[in-house]
Amino acid sequence: MSRLLFGGDYNPEQWPEEVWLEDVRLMREAGVNTATLGVFSWSSLEPEEGRFEFGWLDRAIELLHEHGIGVILATPTASPPPWFSVAHPEGLPVTADGVRLLHGSRDTYNPASPAYRAAAVRIATALAERYGTHPALVAWHLHNEYGTVGFGPEVDREFRGWLERRYGSLAELNRAWHTAFWSQGYSAWEQAFAPQATQYLANPTQLIDFKRFAAELLLDCYREQIEAVRRLSPGAPVTTNFMLPTWLHYDPWAFGEASDLVAVDHYVDARGVEGAAHAALGADLARSFGGGARWLLMEQAANLTMRGGRLLAKEPGAALRTSLQHVARGADGVLFFQWRTAPAGAEAFHSTMVPHAGPDSRVFREVCELGRTLGALDAVASPLAAVPAPGAGGEPVVRARVAIAWSADAWWAADSPGLPAHDEGFYAAVRRTHRALWMAGHVTDFTRLDAGLGRYDLVLVPSHLAASDAEVAALDVYVRAGGHVVVWHFSGTFDSELHIELGGYAGRFAEMLGVRVEELSPLDDGETVALDDGATGTQWSEFVELRGATAEARYTDGLVAGRPAVTGKRHGEGLARYVSTRLDDAAFDALLHRALADAGVAPDAAGAGGGLEIVRRAGADGASFTFAINHTSATRTARLSGTDAFTGALVDGEVELAAGSYAVVCEE
Ligand code: GAL
Repeated sequence: MSRLLFGGDYNPEQWPEEVWLEDVRLMREAGVNTATLGVFSWSSLEPEEGRFEFGWLDRAIELLHEHGIGVILATPTASPPPWFSVAHPEGLPVTADGVRLLHGSRDTYNPASPAYRAAAVRIATALAERYGTHPALVAWHLHNEYGTVGFGPEVDREFRGWLERRYGSLAELNRAWHTAFWSQGYSAWEQAFAPQATQYLANPTQLIDFKRFAAELLLDCYREQIEAVRRLSPGAPVTTNFMLPTWLHYDPWAFGEASDLVAVDHYVDARGVEGAAHAALGADLARSFGGGARWLLMEQAANLTMRGGRLLAKEPGAALRTSLQHVARGADGVLFFQWRTAPAGAEAFHSTMVPHAGPDSRVFREVCELGRTLGALDAVASPLAAVPAPGAGGEPVVRARVAIAWSADAWWAADSPGLPAHDEGFYAAVRRTHRALWMAGHVTDFTRLDAGLGRYDLVLVPSHLAASDAEVAALDVYVRAGGHVVVWHFSGTFDSELHIELGGYAGRFAEMLGVRVEELSPLDDGETVALDDGATGTQWSEFVELRGATAEARYTDGLVAGRPAVTGKRHGEGLARYVSTRLDDAAFDALLHRALADAGVAPDAAGAGGGLEIVRRAGADGASFTFAINHTSATRTARLSGTDAFTGALVDGEVELAAGSYAVVCEE
């Protein structure tokens, strides 16, 4: 079987068995080598509590196996069947307004309910017992997009236990949550609840603690299934599909560590150069969450994708280019949701590999072309089970010298109520930073601040409002030892309990940065501030004082006129910059350019940038591959040298890439 996985979610239980025969024929025609079965199949697998019906799945797996198609087997636990809701109403989630939901959609489960947890482990165990050593089994896909955490009594009970373990005493809880404010002092654990709908702004520390608790609860559910499956199916790697990157209900670093390899679903606005930039970000996140190891693109859309409440069609060739981007950035599999479009149901208009029109369609022809293209790239991938994470002695599949800091706490802190302005938030700030680096032709990793910064020459810290003691200490050590860092406005203002460091904002990083931020001055919509280097700031400004740093640019107008806007400080052997406003795009690019140049980081390949993506990744057996993908509507030139992966011709020098085209060369 080929190593670069290609295929998608397959739901044979939704179709008569005659259709399955056409399915496998078309799969072979398209070069599909992997089908993901069972993602939402619980009611078909266990139609009554404890009574399993595996016959259809046996037949489907055998049919695929006979045709040389491997199986990623899912546990169906994201959608418990109706019998479950009726027998175990406490296993259903409660909304923030206190409404207990009922089945009828999906993801309707309560991770704090013992009945749900037991039922989930039971079906996972039954599947692993039956199929755990099946020769067609490629990997386990546990659950689907962990994310649902509701409220209600079961969640309150678990949350209280978590709080008691975290704080030990009510006095500590009251201190951490600063409950003297608005009469929130707790005198018994039973008074503590998950933060349901509130009359006005909720307590920010209670909110972030709840998010941390909920993330751990989901991780516990995942770990229970991992344990059940690994015991019975030791040879097959275990993963779950992360949802990228629109919401964050879990700590992806912890989920990455628990998995044998990271798998992600990618449904971003994939149109044009901006879409390509966004896809690259998702791919870099996926690789980073696995510590730099190879990963799987578990789901993407072959055509229509939702943007702003509308399903928009992809341009010809877009699905192929996006797929290649993911492979270039370390994916060893390109899979879709889903193989064949359902004739009815909530996602009947979601695009698939075989659309309603059938195989005589643009989409299916493109799927076949993608299959042929990936077929020629098999040597980039390694057998899945043999992929060690870099932490476990493996080399990163793509080497990046610049990294963006990523933490769930930073995301959640930026979503806190009561902040002084609705600035862009964590994800938007990260996306802007990654996009600018991508446009400049750089490959970027994401990193925790409290681990392993030494492999980077430059670390960028956008919108990192809350920083833990470990993060502050590790960043300081990194810069003192020669690392370069750029920190964005308002970052480092809070500690992990969302208490503001007194004495000046950005206080947690103040010594390293050599600044004191005496006062904040958020800007109104449409308001700008000018800087003396010609830049413009929007949304935010600060009264910055120099305490060891020098000003690289100063404000020339507004309340902050004369104050430093961008600063830099030599800190030990390294350099720490601070930027106290949201710079316009050109100034932002110029700042990154300076920071990259000072850190000695050049683009990975000549000619890369502005929508020509050039990425080098490790292949199997010590080979390396360079992918050049032209996302623009003009011809571009890339300097490549090696063997053309599609024609076998030797390439050495400038290669012209027509609009929308690509090249892949192998360097031994
Ligand atoms: C994913 C999900 C799939 C399908 C898809 C549609 O989030 O895992 O089952 O619903 O979205 O975009």
